[in-house]
Amino acid sequence: MRIAIVTDRSRMDFLPPEEALQEDAQKHRTVEQVQEVLSKHYDCIALTADDEIISKLRAENIDLVFNLCNGLRGDSKTAQLPAMLEFAGIAYTGSAVVGHTLAINKLLSLQAFQTASIPTPKFAAVYSLADLDNLNLEFPIIVKPNDEGSSRGIHQDSLIFDWASLRKKVAEELELYRPPILLNEFIKGREFTIGVVGNEDETEVLPIQELDLSALPEELSKFYSFEVKTYYKEKTIYHLPAPLTAAEKELIEKTAIRAYQALMIRDYGRVDIRLKDGIPYVLEINSLPGLQKGRSSLWRIAEAKADLGYEGLILRIVSIALRRYGKL
Ligand SMILES: Nc1ncnc2c1ncn2[C@@H]1O[C@H](COP(=O)(O)OP(=O)(O)OP(=O)(O)O)[C@@H](O)[C@H]1O
Ligand SMILES: [Mg+2]
Repeated sequence: MRIAIVTDRSRMDFLPPEEALQEDAQKHRTVEQVQEVLSKHYDCIALTADDEIISKLRAENIDLVFNLCNGLRGDSKTAQLPAMLEFAGIAYTGSAVVGHTLAINKLLSLQAFQTASIPTPKFAAVYSLADLDNLNLEFPIIVKPNDEGSSRGIHQDSLIFDWASLRKKVAEELELYRPPILLNEFIKGREFTIGVVGNEDETEVLPIQELDLSALPEELSKFYSFEVKTYYKEKTIYHLPAPLTAAEKELIEKTAIRAYQALMIRDYGRVDIRLKDGIPYVLEINSLPGLQKGRSSLWRIAEAKADLGYEGLILRIVSIALRRYGKL
């Protein structure tokens, strides 16, 4: 069994430099760490995706791609490599085109959740400043790019309490990111990160992680902004498993699985939920969640499950994918 870990080149040309640098560092470390695990069990190489990726994979006789490609730019970035692999008939880990396309697009995700009666924050999509005139949301509002991740474009000043700041922030984000810009009513509640693995009847929720930001400096707003993720890691407290009543735990687990299935996520994913007044609001799903050892939530969650661990998670992703292709 020969596996290729595939990631993409730097997005330095398409992102603000600070965000691109973080993304590049994260990518390189993850490839090394995943390769270290897979090399113990499989013949494993790492490749960078470019226009020649399909011929490279064929030349290397690859049986399975371990997909770590976020995509570079444009529509449905995370679906781009899966689309090429589907076309070429090459097996790969994780979600297919439709799952990534829905998950990367927060507007489509929220619409799909609503259709499936899964609680979500109230939201609006803004294509130009004129759209703010008909806004039907209550402050505080959080402003975010529609199709980024790792809190790119979600900074401390993205939590907005008044009209003047809203106009200013939306104008700024319309310049930097692809429209629409997404507005959400801010859910002031406890935040949970839920790892989900598997497909169909074998879909499983891993231990629920609670994100506790109460130790952040007073002046910082308590949400998982780019600044908090990047510079205040040591002030972020993770409760694992999260202290929850049996009923709350069951509600969050069921909601996470419903959300995973509503977006047609495959093999593994990570669901972000905020719980307020007993309602589990789904913020988004990461169809290509970070897998960096020592840093990512999925690493922490996997380590919290005695019979899994980081290595177990990476191997599980491979075996779930192989089983799906009938190769196991
Ligand atoms: N409607 C909301 N109410 C409260 N907090 C929110 C809301 N939307 C986003 N946040 C906060 O902002 C953080 C980042 O938002 P979101 O998960 O949508 O972005 P992201 O960039 O896709 O994140 P990542 O890919 O790293 O999970 C959330 O973890 C949460 O703390
Ligand atoms: Mg998130």
